[in-house]
Amino acid sequence: MVTREKVAMEVFKLLDIVSDGILILDNQVKILYLNKVAAFFLGIDQEKALDQEFLKLAIDPQISGLVHNYKSDKSTSSIEIHVGEGEKQSWIELKIYGKDEYVIVCFRDISARKEGEEKYKMAYESIRFLNSHSQKIKEEERTLLSREIHDQLGQRLTGMKMEVDFILKKSSNLDDFAKEKLQGVLKQIERTVSTIRNISRSLRPGILDDFGLLAALEWQAEEFKKTVQIPVFFQYGGKEKPIENQKATAIFRVFQECLTNIMRHSQCSHVKVEIDFGPMALKLMIVDNGSGFDTKILNNTKSLGILGMKERAESFGGSFDIQSSPGDGTKTILTMPY
Ligand SMILES: Nc1ncnc2c1ncn2[C@@H]1O[C@H](COP(=O)(O)OP(=O)(O)OP(=O)(O)O)[C@@H](O)[C@H]1O
Ligand SMILES: [Mg+2]
Repeated sequence: MVTREKVAMEVFKLLDIVSDGILILDNQVKILYLNKVAAFFLGIDQEKALDQEFLKLAIDPQISGLVHNYKSDKSTSSIEIHVGEGEKQSWIELKIYGKDEYVIVCFRDISARKEGEEKYKMAYESIRFLNSHSQKIKEEERTLLSREIHDQLGQRLTGMKMEVDFILKKSSNLDDFAKEKLQGVLKQIERTVSTIRNISRSLRPGILDDFGLLAALEWQAEEFKKTVQIPVFFQYGGKEKPIENQKATAIFRVFQECLTNIMRHSQCSHVKVEIDFGPMALKLMIVDNGSGFDTKILNNTKSLGILGMKERAESFGGSFDIQSSPGDGTKTILTMPY
């Protein structure tokens, strides 16, 4: 006849062929049972370990620590530990259950999952590095191009304008047709100079390098106001502190992207900008009173603006947060360490 004890024995045998480790301790923390896998993880002999005092065995202190803490205050019930070295190293997940009379510890080899996570982390880090590197190169190229366009083309056109001016003023024998044509050329040159200035500024506003971040932010806000007729109010806190050029560029680009979003999506009537020079970091807050949006859409949207702002801030050790809800406007907070 099959007895409860016989079934229990069969179950214990079965536990020897499962892939997880199982260890059962009594209320004195003596080993009542351990399967083959648990013995392997603990580095002890399955037969000899029975009835031994668990906390007195020479085992990994992370494992005995978990059991000890659980017995005293039932605080930690699950940990992931790294054991072994070289070829023999592995990651184990330990889960602990039980009451006052007994404690059960389960061991699971999670090396494959950890390896996958590590690979994913490394790939993600590489992508972030690549992104911040290409941003840096893009900014350098923009600066160079903006200067070349402004200085080289600008100077040549100014030279041409002076020449035409000179002809118009000094040549007494020009007929009306020639004069009219030259006036036309002069106007075209002036228009081209203004276009070139705009192109150069849109690549990189010289004001950022010449007068600093605050002047550049105010200038950008003024341009925004001219384009969309939405006023931007500035408020400052703390004493202005110098900020390194690349970080200032990142802050400026985030500001530009925020204003573009406000222009495209918010339908607001005003924008408030708060710049606070804290002891360790600059905080920039941009608040609009527009339509707002459900920030959940950012989890599955393919739009890259907000993602790009976050990446820019984080690549300099800063942070980026966007708070919004439908009907409640949008608040963007950027912090950038000095
Ligand atoms: N100030 C804002 N007011 C209302 N909605 C906003 C605001 N800023 C962002 N959004 C919402 O968040 C979405 C994501 O913005 P994000 O800048 O990432 O992308 P996008 O502007 O749609 O496209 P792009 O990749 O060209 O920037 C927007 O499509 C819009 O729905
Ligand atoms: Mg956008």
